[in-house]
Amino acid sequence: MSKAAVIAVDGPGGAGKGELTRRLASELGFSLLDSGAIYRVLAYAARKAGLALFDEDSLCQEAAVMDLSFDPREDGVHVLLGGDDVSSAIRTEEAGANASKVAQLPAVRKALLQRQRDFRKEPGLVADGRDMGTVVFPDAQVKIFLDAAPEVRARRRVSQLEAAGKQADYGLILKEIKERDDRDRNRIVAPLKPAADAVVLDSSDLGIEEVFAKAMEIARARLGL
Ligand code: DC
Repeated sequence: MSKAAVIAVDGPGGAGKGELTRRLASELGFSLLDSGAIYRVLAYAARKAGLALFDEDSLCQEAAVMDLSFDPREDGVHVLLGGDDVSSAIRTEEAGANASKVAQLPAVRKALLQRQRDFRKEPGLVADGRDMGTVVFPDAQVKIFLDAAPEVRARRRVSQLEAAGKQADYGLILKEIKERDDRDRNRIVAPLKPAADAVVLDSSDLGIEEVFAKAMEIARARLGL
């Protein structure tokens, strides 16, 4: 029996994967996996429990027991940890950097593998992350690598923060983006890189509508829709 369809969307932070994957899932009626949120919640839970972000054994134990769930609502998918809504708490720059740190640890990635694979079900899944097409779903029917220049991603992040009424320092954000890219691309396990059979889309000069149209074209062709 063939496995449920998976559209793997990988790429660096801030390239627009979140918006793209939400639209793809909604258009196709597929479920959605935000794998970055899982690493973010693990880092958040670890901080709350007073664990060091390099304490691999304790982080693995936390990964095995943490009560994480996704709750789709009108205003987006809420992330719950033990019933508490941690959606905003895990979206800060610091939470992203902490997630990237725990995500470097091989045993932590292994401990979270099955949790991610369990999201694959009919009629299909759109999976957002760094290693969806290379490690978690190597047999995904559709693989897209969404890239964008760091400067473009930093400008988009500044606009997002300003729109939310928050202060944003472009220089600092660009520095953080580059540091996180560096960590995600150069780690030993599951480094951020396009799968050999992925289609690379560069969103630096494209708006979300164009990216979505291109991604739908690729998905339709590969899934025979
Ligand atoms: O996509 P995001 O910004 O929410 O991800 C946060 C961090 O989690 C990212 O910097 C690296 C890590 N991550 C990962 O290693 N593998 C994934 N599949 C998703 C995220």
